[in-house]
Amino acid sequence: MTPTLTIALSKGRIFKETLPLLAAAAIVPTDDPETSRKLILDTNQPDVKLVIIRATDVPTYVQYGAADLGVAGKDVLLEHGGEGLYEPLDLKIARCRLMVAGDPEHRPRLNRTRIATKYINTTRRWFADQGRQVEVIKLYGSMELAPLVGLADYIVDVVDTGKTLQANGLAPLEHIADISSRLIINKAAMKMKHARIKAIMARMAAAVGV
Ligand code: ATP
Ligand code: PRP
Repeated sequence: MTPTLTIALSKGRIFKETLPLLAAAAIVPTDDPETSRKLILDTNQPDVKLVIIRATDVPTYVQYGAADLGVAGKDVLLEHGGEGLYEPLDLKIARCRLMVAGDPEHRPRLNRTRIATKYINTTRRWFADQGRQVEVIKLYGSMELAPLVGLADYIVDVVDTGKTLQANGLAPLEHIADISSRLIINKAAMKMKHARIKAIMARMAAAVGV
């Protein structure tokens, strides 16, 4: 019997935008994660399963081999550090930019500027690399609120259309990185299941146009 190949995906935009790429690799889920409460989804291929997890957990599942492959945003990968993972393919989906944002008129606290974000490692690196001393506050969502209520001077978050910032009277200020989602692969699985993974990668790469 062929061992199962497990692919980790998050619900929402990554799942939706990965579907056509999986279809190009002849993998079609038989359940819809938006309506099903199952966390392990079957596909048309009996030896390929999908696990549906939080976006930030995808690199962890793949790093430890609980999933062989996964799709994760570069923002999430920068924050995770990429240990135990190969990142061979830019899928060019879920594109956005990781930015420092805030009120351009705001005068930051003089002693130590506060930055609210869910990307604490990337944020610390960004400011440390420039020799700027900041205090980083970890949040799990709705970062845009933090400067409005005085929790932080600025935020670090992903920006696409800029509408969320604009709706809250904020603006993008510094560009940290261009973001898109990447195919990630567990290093051991890449050796043990090489032929199957390579075939999937090749078909996805062709669908992406690289
Ligand atoms: P979690 O639910 O675990 O907090 P999340 O809310 O960030 O994760 P999604 O909103 O589905 O999950 O985002 C998944 C990925 O899509 C992000 O890691 C980022 O790379 C990208 N992304 C996030 N917001 C946008 C956006 N507005 N436009 C385009 N891509 C985005
Ligand atoms: C993300 C992010 C911003 C927003 C940016 O949130 O945390 O709040 O998208 O997108 P914009 O620049 O196009 O406004 P989330 O994924 O919760 O928002 P979404 O699903 O509404 O894009």
